[in-house]
Amino acid sequence: KKKATGVSHAKVIFLGEHSAVYRQPAIVFPVPQATVTATIMRSPQSETIICSDYYSGKVTGLPASMAGITTLLNQLQVELNPTEIPLELTINSTIPLGRGMGSSAAIASAIIRSYFNFFEVPLSREQLTKYTDIEEHITHGNPSGIDAQTVNANHPILFEKQQFIDFTPPLTGFLIIADTGRASNTKTAVTQVHEFLTADPVREELITRLGTLTERVKENLAQQDLIQTGKNLTEAQEILATLGVSTPEIEQLITTANRAGALGAKLTGSGLGGCIIALAPDYPSAQHIASDLQKQGAHQTWIQSLADLNPQ
Ligand code: MEV
Repeated sequence: KKKATGVSHAKVIFLGEHSAVYRQPAIVFPVPQATVTATIMRSPQSETIICSDYYSGKVTGLPASMAGITTLLNQLQVELNPTEIPLELTINSTIPLGRGMGSSAAIASAIIRSYFNFFEVPLSREQLTKYTDIEEHITHGNPSGIDAQTVNANHPILFEKQQFIDFTPPLTGFLIIADTGRASNTKTAVTQVHEFLTADPVREELITRLGTLTERVKENLAQQDLIQTGKNLTEAQEILATLGVSTPEIEQLITTANRAGALGAKLTGSGLGGCIIALAPDYPSAQHIASDLQKQGAHQTWIQSLADLNPQ
């Protein structure tokens, strides 16, 4: 029986969330250990069905919260499956939903890859991004496009001057990602920041400062200066808190990470829930930080070796 799969992975924004919406730069890392696998085969049913942890049933019955996936599937069906062969699409994800780790884009990407594999149609990186963007625009409103790019890359991405550039400084150190256990809503957070900024034009300066910090971290990473990188991450967190997207849970995890020896820590993604990231110089300290974060209520933690993101 013919079966095809597509795999994609998570991402975290290292620095530049929110300011990226205002055309400032951002640095984004893939997280290869958190993955989504989509598997397609012919369905014995009369129409295409989808099986996942969040929803199982006819594609036509997908909940409104998955409207982006519905639109994507409709488009893939029209373009790749015009004779409407009934399919069974299974989604297995280890990326928590709505935590700023790019779960929606990764699900979209895995589905796209599985469809193209199943119908044996070659898929370019441009096409993959284009289709992922279709889902992301519906799910997140008018995002910067960061997620669609990074879930489809195996190395860091620099978002600069509205362009996505492969960013491959000689990375060292370890990144700890910790989940507050609360979902964040990108649309809500972006709208809230927009209202905060337009209430007083002087506040635009906060966005410029985030942009400057991102430029500095770009240089810090190129110079393998983890200490300064960490300091700049912490400074960015203070600005993000001023923008109103931090929460008591985020603050608590950040304090815990810093007390446990992190070089710096901040929220990642849109905030108002979601995850934090912390920087550690070596694996033992990363393990110590992750364990303290779990004791303080982090639902899940990941340790990503940054050297593993360097091109082979
Ligand atoms: C959300 O992951 C990142 C934001 O900067 C929104 C975006 O860039 O689309 C808050």
